[in-house]
Amino acid sequence: MRIDIHPHETLPRHAKEVLLGQKGSVLWFCGLSGSGKSTIAAAVEQVLHDKGRFCVRLDGDNLRTGLNGNLGFSDDDRLENIRRTAELAKILASNGVIVLCSLITPRGAFRDLARGILENDFAEIYVKADYATCEARDPKGLYAKANEGNVKNFTGRDSAFEEPQDPELVLDTEALSVDDAAFEVLEYLRSEGIAL
Ligand code: ADX
Repeated sequence: MRIDIHPHETLPRHAKEVLLGQKGSVLWFCGLSGSGKSTIAAAVEQVLHDKGRFCVRLDGDNLRTGLNGNLGFSDDDRLENIRRTAELAKILASNGVIVLCSLITPRGAFRDLARGILENDFAEIYVKADYATCEARDPKGLYAKANEGNVKNFTGRDSAFEEPQDPELVLDTEALSVDDAAFEVLEYLRSEGIAL
């Protein structure tokens, strides 16, 4: 902690959690572009919202239009992208919010950084689909562009994706439907006592 900075007390986390009827937490969806991170997070958000739970989604693509708009796809920039997002998620979770983060988070070191910032609030969810599957889906046309050599440092092609070694949950989207994957996440939240 810097000695010239004096953080202010906020209302206790517990008061916010009682108000919202849930435990603050961060679900961190990682995986290749096109693996299904944002789609599953959106489905989970919808179910929780319908049940009266308060969620905030932090999505890599969205954050890169604002808070992280000055960052690219070098390892240093991706690390900063993850750090800022994890710090924002920490503020939200400590105010009782269920935070759904969807970022590729391609390296173990980046995920370790997020886990270090978020500690016990952090659950790593590996949204698993291999490169060929994501390339065939190509929802944004990015794989086609990358194949033409028009995307620098494209994850899985010119920039490595390291498979998570010990995630809290693995969602194999080559086998699971979106609804089934969302159901597994909701079961996880229930089993952890985070939300009904
Ligand atoms: S991360 O690696 O820093 O975690 P993040 O999730 O924020 O990445 O952003 C990934 C999104 O940026 C992709 O879903 C895709 O739409 C877009 N994108 C643009 N360029 C690249 C690239 N070189 N590699 C991966 N994704 C890219």
